[in-house]
Amino acid sequence: MARTIAVLSQKGGTGKTTTVRTLTDAFRRAGLRVLAIDLDPQGNLSDYFDLDPDATPTVAEVLLDRATAAEAIHNDVIPANLGLAEAELVLGGKMGRELTLRKALGDVGDTYDLVIIDCPPALGLLTVNALVAADHALISSEAQYFAMQGVEQALEVIELARDGLNPQLDWLGVILNIADLRTVHSREARQALLEHVGDRLIDPPIRASIAYAESAERGLSILDHRPDLASDYLKIGAEIARRVQQPEAAAKLEAMIEPDSA
Ligand SMILES: Nc1ncnc2c1ncn2[C@@H]1O[C@H](COP(=O)(O)OP(=O)(O)O)[C@@H](O)[C@H]1O
Ligand SMILES: [Mg+2]
Repeated sequence: MARTIAVLSQKGGTGKTTTVRTLTDAFRRAGLRVLAIDLDPQGNLSDYFDLDPDATPTVAEVLLDRATAAEAIHNDVIPANLGLAEAELVLGGKMGRELTLRKALGDVGDTYDLVIIDCPPALGLLTVNALVAADHALISSEAQYFAMQGVEQALEVIELARDGLNPQLDWLGVILNIADLRTVHSREARQALLEHVGDRLIDPPIRASIAYAESAERGLSILDHRPDLASDYLKIGAEIARRVQQPEAAAKLEAMIEPDSA
């Protein structure tokens, strides 16, 4: 059965979608069968994977029970578009609304080793659906002042999902994203996180670089565009693979790290 990881944060711009895209690429290169699910009405993940913007059905139809999850898979991605905002509103009025994604994903588990869900930039019903459907939650945090506040809010929602609906939900940890550790600012954010969450802070921080925006624009994976920077994600990917019981994939990811990368 596939293990499902939900990647969340309490706001946008923390590098969530880039993380889902890059970890999906990395895990696939390590031999895992990975399904990526876009759960953000902005559809950024679907764009990053260069899916046809008109690809249908999407995750919205799945949540409204108009399509099965299997039908909504396009190139191992379940896409989203603005229709998801409307679906979220409709879903809000239904019984069992928090369990919808979990039920819908029941039939895809055997085809994949991992399912990675890109949550919207808010801690509302869609993110709760992702957390109820997930085995593991991964928080993405920008290396900024107030980062700790965002992490605490995300942790509260994880607790909410655990409390009744998904008691098995495991908290994988926090990624410190878009970090410029040459600045005191980023180093202080890292220190504060470390004091609060200890070994749940997954090292290394993802270094900030304009190369991420460039590679997204060109439809390239950072793993190909800038292998030197991509070592951050390979190291994080290896640690996550260990934490989700995929030791062979972890070893392969470590072998992919360029020896001279910082
Ligand atoms: N490590 C990084 N360094 C610099 N910019 C980044 C990095 N990761 C992501 N970005 C950029 O930051 C913006 C927000 O990233 P994104 O992954 O879409 O965040 P979110 O999904 O949390 O809103 C995008 O323009 C993206 O290219
Ligand atoms: Mg996003």
